[in-house]
Parts: sequence; C-alpha cells; structure tokens
Amino acid sequence: MEALLLALLMLFSLSISNTSLAKNLVSKTQSLKSGDTLVSKGGIFEMGFFSPTNSLNSYIGIWYRQDPKKTVVWVASRDHPLTNTSSAALKITLEGQLALVADNQSVWHAKSSRSVQNPVAELLNSGNFVVREADDESPENFLWQSFDYPTDHYLPGMKIGWNFQTGHEVFITSWKSQDDPASGQYTFHLDPTGYPQVVIKKGPTKIYASGPWTNLSSIQSGGKDSILPYWLVRNKREVYMTYGLSKAISSLRFVLTSNGLVKGFVWEDQTKEWDSFSTASLDNCDAYGVCGGNGFCNVDGFPTCGCLEKFVPNNNASENLSSLGCHRRKPLSCLVGPSSDGFQIYSGIKLPDTNNSWFNESVINLQECEQICLRNCSCTAYSILSKRNGGIGCLIWFGDLIGIRSVSPNQQDMYIYIRLASSEVTTGPNHSSSMGRKTKIIVLCLLLPVVIVLLGVLLSWYFCRNKKTEQRLEEELELPMFDWSTMIRATNNFSNKIGQGGFGVVYKGVLDGGEEIAVKRLSKNSVQGLREFKNEVSCIAKLQHRNLVKLLGCCISGEEKMLIYEYMPNKSLDFFIFDQTRKKLLDWSKRFNIINGIARGLLYLHQDSRLRIIHRDLKASNVLLDTDLNPKISDFGLARSIVGNATGDNTKRVAGTHGYMSPEYAGHGIFSVKSDVFSFGISVLEIVSGRRNNEFINEDQYVTLPEHAWKLYREGKSIELADEHIAGSYDVVQVLRSIHIGLLCVQQSPDDRPDMSSVVQMLVNDFALPRAKEPGFFFGKEYPSDTHSKSSQNEVTITTLSPR
Ligand SMILES: *[C@@H]1O[C@H](CO)[C@@H](O)[C@H](O)[C@H]1NC(C)=O
Ligand SMILES: *[C@@H]1O[C@H](CO)[C@@H](O)[C@H](O)[C@H]1NC(C)=O
Ligand SMILES: *[C@@H]1O[C@H](CO)[C@@H](O)[C@H](O)[C@H]1NC(C)=O
Repeated sequence: MEALLLALLMLFSLSISNTSLAKNLVSKTQSLKSGDTLVSKGGIFEMGFFSPTNSLNSYIGIWYRQDPKKTVVWVASRDHPLTNTSSAALKITLEGQLALVADNQSVWHAKSSRSVQNPVAELLNSGNFVVREADDESPENFLWQSFDYPTDHYLPGMKIGWNFQTGHEVFITSWKSQDDPASGQYTFHLDPTGYPQVVIKKGPTKIYASGPWTNLSSIQSGGKDSILPYWLVRNKREVYMTYGLSKAISSLRFVLTSNGLVKGFVWEDQTKEWDSFSTASLDNCDAYGVCGGNGFCNVDGFPTCGCLEKFVPNNNASENLSSLGCHRRKPLSCLVGPSSDGFQIYSGIKLPDTNNSWFNESVINLQECEQICLRNCSCTAYSILSKRNGGIGCLIWFGDLIGIRSVSPNQQDMYIYIRLASSEVTTGPNHSSSMGRKTKIIVLCLLLPVVIVLLGVLLSWYFCRNKKTEQRLEEELELPMFDWSTMIRATNNFSNKIGQGGFGVVYKGVLDGGEEIAVKRLSKNSVQGLREFKNEVSCIAKLQHRNLVKLLGCCISGEEKMLIYEYMPNKSLDFFIFDQTRKKLLDWSKRFNIINGIARGLLYLHQDSRLRIIHRDLKASNVLLDTDLNPKISDFGLARSIVGNATGDNTKRVAGTHGYMSPEYAGHGIFSVKSDVFSFGISVLEIVSGRRNNEFINEDQYVTLPEHAWKLYREGKSIELADEHIAGSYDVVQVLRSIHIGLLCVQQSPDDRPDMSSVVQMLVNDFALPRAKEPGFFFGKEYPSDTHSKSSQNEVTITTLSPR
C-alpha cells in the first residue's frame, strides 16, 4: 500500500515537473539543465540529457517524444561525454554561441555563423535544433542548425550533401557502438565527384557505392504526392539529397548503425514501435569492388565473381578472381572513323561506381552520347540519363568499371554500353539503329522511381505492404485449390513417400501437365477452422523469395488438408551434410552460399515480407536444396497456421525440434524472431562441422554442438570445428567468421543474439564481431532432454501443450 502511494506520488511529481519544464527555447536567460527537457512546438521531438544503456556517460540528445524507448536521433556532444551532470547546462553564451557548460568549463559548443542581438536556440518540430535571432524564424537566417551536423540519423528534411560555397559537407557518422555515441568508423555520404551517388565508407575506405541515380534533372523529385517525396538538388552552390514525409507514413528515420548498416524505421501508431526495414538487399555483391575493375558479380553464381563478357582475368587464372579484376580481351583501338571501337549493351545490371565519370544533361540522343565517348580514349562506357521532359542526358565512365553486378528481377533494369574493340562487338552495323529504337523503351523504364540505396528499399517495402493488403482481399480467389482426385492421381494414391515433416507426411507427385510437386498431407490434429486455414495458407503462398520453397496451392477435402509445393529434386540439407559420401559434394563455397541463403530467406520471413513470420522449426531437414544446391527454407508459416496464433509472445503450444529450440522457447514457450536466430545458429554450426547437433558426442564427454564449438572458440581453436571434408576448399577467415556468427546466434539471452538483418550483414562484411557469450541450452524438466542421447536418429518436431 505504501509502495503504491509512493509510486503515485512520484508519478504526480513527475508529471508536474514535466509540465512546468516543458519549453522549446534556450535563451540568454533560460538554459537547459540536467533533468529539464525541451519539447518542440508540435510535440514530436524532445531534447535533454540522456545516458545510453550500459553507460555511465551523459550527453545531450534529441529523441521522438512518443517513443517509449527514447531512441536518440541526434547527440550534441557525442565526443565529449559528461560523467557528472549536476552542474551541466546547455546555454547561449553572451557571445551568442550555443555551449554545453559543466563545472564552469565549456564541454562542447556550436559555432554560430554570425552574432546577433538576442540569440535563442529552438527545437523545431522536424527534430532540427536551431540557433536564430529571437524574432527571426526564417530558415535562411539560422545561425546554426543541428541538421548541418547530423550524428547517426538521417531524418526527413535533412540535406545530405555539399555546400560548395562554404565547403561544408553534411554526412552521417555512425555511433562507435550501441552504447557509445562517439563518432564511429562508418560514414554515409553523397559523393558529388562525377555523377552524384551514395557512398558508405569505413574509415577512409569505400565499402559501398550506390551507382548513379539515373533520372536526371537539376531538381530530381519523387513528387510531392508520392509515398516518399525525395529530391536530389544539384546546382552551382550545392548538391544534396533530402526526403520528406507523406500522409502514408507518419514518422520515418534512417540510421547508420555502428556496424555500418543502413536501417530504416517506420513508426507504427498501433504498436507504438518502430518497424524496421533494413537494407536487406545488401549481399555479397554489394561489398565495394569485390570483383575488381571490369568484374561482374553474380550473387547466384559459383564463383560469384566473373569478368564482363569479352574481358579476361588480370591474373591469368580462370578461378579465384576475387578483387584482381579483368581487362579487355582485345585492346581498344581508340581510332576515329570507320574502324573505331564499338559498344556492347548490358542490361539487368547495377551501374558502376560513378566516381570517375562525367555527364552532360543537354545531350539529346544516344548517338551523340556514343560519339562523346568515342572521342575520348579514356572513356570506357556510357549510359543515358532520362529526363522527365523526354530528353536524355549522357553519362560516361573513364577507366575500369567497378561494381557491375546482377540485380534481382524486381529491381530496376539499367543499361550500359561498354566500349570494346570493333571486332568484339557482335551485333554488327545494325547495332546502333536498333539501339535507337530501344532508347524509347529505356527512357520509359528509367522514368520509374529510381533505385537508390535507401529510397529504393523503402519504396519496395511500401509497395509490398500495400500489395499484401490488396492481395488479402482477393486471396481466396488467388490461391490455387487442387481437388482430391487430382491429388490421388498425382501421387499415385499416396504411394511415393519422400519424407516425414513436422506437420505431416510428404509425397512426391506429378501433375497432369508433367509438373513435379511435393504434397504435404497435414496430420489431422489441426485445431484450425477451414476458413482460417485457407487464409493462412493464402498468406504463406504470397511469400516469395528465392530462398523459400514455393507453395503452389492447397487441397481441402473433408478432414484432409494438403499443401502442394514445388518439388526439390535434391532433397534437404541434412540429406547431404550428415552423410559421409554426399557431404563431399558440398565444398566450402557451397556451404557458405547455403548459410547466406538461409539467412536471407529467414530475414525475408522476419521483416521483409511484412507478415513477420517466425518459422519456429528451422533445421537442416527443413532446408531444401534446388538443382544448383541453393537453399530453400520449407515449412515456414506452418507453426503459425497449424499450431496457433502467431502474434502472442507466449503460446500455449510449443512446436519445434529438440536441439534447435532456444532455451526460452523450449522452456517457457516464449518465442520471438530471436528463437529462429537461435535455430539458425545451430544450423550454421552443423553446416560448418558437418555434424548433427542432436547426435554430437565428444570423445570424452557428452556435450552439445554449441558447447563444443564454444569451448574451441574460447581456446582459440575454432578452426578444429570445421568439417574435415572441406579442409581443402575453405577460406579460413570465412569459416572462422561463420562459426563466430553461429555462436553469437545461440547465446543464452535473446537480447544478445543479433537479428537476422545483422546476421546477413555480418556474413557479407568484415566488421569486427562482438565476443560471443556462452551458448544457451535448455535442460528443463518439461522436456526430458534427449540432446545427450546417442540414439536420437530421427529428430521429430514436437507439437505439444506446455504445462501452465
Ligand atoms: C564558476 O564561476 C563562478 C563565477 O566565476 C564562480 O563564482 C563559481 O564559484 C565557479 N564554480 C565552480 C564550480 O568553479
Ligand atoms: C552538353 O551538350 C550540349 C548538346 O550537345 C552542348 O551544346 C554543350 O556544349 C555540352 N556541354 C558541355 C559542358 O560539354
Ligand atoms: C578525356 O577525359 C578525361 C577525363 O575527364 C580528361 O582528363 C581528358 O582530357 C579527356 N581527353 C580528351 C582528349 O578530351
């Protein structure tokens, strides 16, 4: 009772102090002290002192007022932490400068462009903290603004780029770590050299280049009414990119994380949470210059790196191209006239780094652009830049072409004309006239929203979301239903059993048209109604990703429910990885490809698909392999539709497989995306070691695979975990990194485990990984643990009621 009173009292006094201190200005007479906050006029942003989690340091920062987690979007004094805020205050000094003062010393200050009579600092509703003359609110006259000195957040209205007159660059710098806002090593820039592009750097090294923004005009806009209004502004005085908010999205922020990832977050009013959509599309080919100059990166290829057509590797070796790059098989002639060089068109690619490029917006046709390139011997390629008024601009590249890669079909196609010796050009004399006709089509294509790292991702995210809503309306019509007799015929009366999955028996079948299918006959203990079932299955059918098995339809007949999938001739991962003979087919690069594929498929389920599917039963036998041994996750979405409601975080039923289940899930039925991360970690360790988690036995004692891996890791002997069958083929760094990532994923506390978007990035990049803590394991009495038993040959998915 007393405690309750006390709590009420505290609440009361808190709310009093909040209202009495809510202000939006710092002036000569009013400073911002520890405990105070500034609130922007519209109430969106709040500013005050804060301490990051796990840190004793204090800083002044800005956060969204409605955000219960108070995610800090700007830090004033990031490189000057305070350990004691009792005497600290943010003031306007007599000279008109904004200064953070503690113990009579200036800790940090913002240099105003000029001095005025009566300066004030105001927190605007955009999150911009500005210094201005008290009675002059016009943005042109601001003396200083925080938007010119961003930290790790790119907020709506912020202009990233260059002011050529002052030489000031506005760019984003990551935090040093999650708990330390000091300047980290990753930066995000608009690079104005050549044609403007987005560049991410780690220290001085470029690690990502977006390539050109192809839709060119001095003011490039997504349009005021578009979902994401954005602009690239380029003139003599400045070049910058900026974006705004539309009605569709109330709050949006981009952050450059301390690992160098760009993540976007949209505020969800209902859940009062930030919904993230990261740049999940970043993959092995996005690392800057992975394939060297004139290389071509194909994310689905073995190996990923190759040369552009008519180019040969620089090191004369056909394999292991890596970053050495390629050169033309026949050198360019550089002659003018009839025997001049020609051009080969490439499409469906990402355009190369524009750092060494030149452009002219006034060029009106392709031939002219081609001539411009031919006239300069250093020009190696050209492309056109469409303009809204139908004209084209000309963009030409000099020297080696860096960063050309395949793009997935749903990304925008780009065209580039690469210069080759005339004898190498295959299309002959008609080449240019046929290109002339093509131009129109290209121009139309390029008028569609452009691909740029952030904006493109957001747009596709948004369109996906909307499409999902639309689709849900008509999903009953869209889901192909197969009838019972078709199923009997296709499976030859269920005679060809190919597997026993978690939710039923799987049969191979052939449809009348000859298409091979896999039919999953669900066990009859499902609790769901028909309509519910159909709805769920329709949703699953909408999930399409190259690392997910495609659901073709379903069949419902009386008590029987069946799911019809595409047929995977190569069976599942466990069929290979745990078999002494077949595992030899999986060398290290294939295994690494599989790890990457599973990670991407899972990431898609967790966040890109917008349905936020938690798999709950990820394991080697649920990863199927296609003819090229690319992984495809199966049985996703079933735990939700077959076992129960997905949105609760505490479910009465537990579905999963011993050894793959995270401790919190196996023990308490608490599941989250981090439970899948745990299962993923186990799978990674299995793939690297070629040993089954459930059967793992060390020579002298029974331990689990994660425990064994962790022991080796602590002793610095992780490499001993690697399967002897990959000994000849592996890349030590990659193997060690994979083990390390696997261990991070199986840590005891879900909060310690990375999310899948981080995992994908960890696999692709080489930033330092945190140390892994001891792996978690569950030995609760609810599940008499059979993880130690030698004989658990057939792992079986458990679907059971957990005790309450
Ligand atoms: C700060 O400076 C003022 C005026 O110079 C002085 O009175 C005060 O004692 C100083 N405080 C500290 C903590 O040094
Ligand atoms: C750009 O192209 C136009 C049209 O061909 C030409 O008149 C102009 O001089 C070019 N500008 C530059 C800087 O080369
Ligand atoms: C070719 O282009 C390069 C790069 O812009 C330039 O330095 C060089 O002067 C040009 N050469 C000719 C002949 O125009």
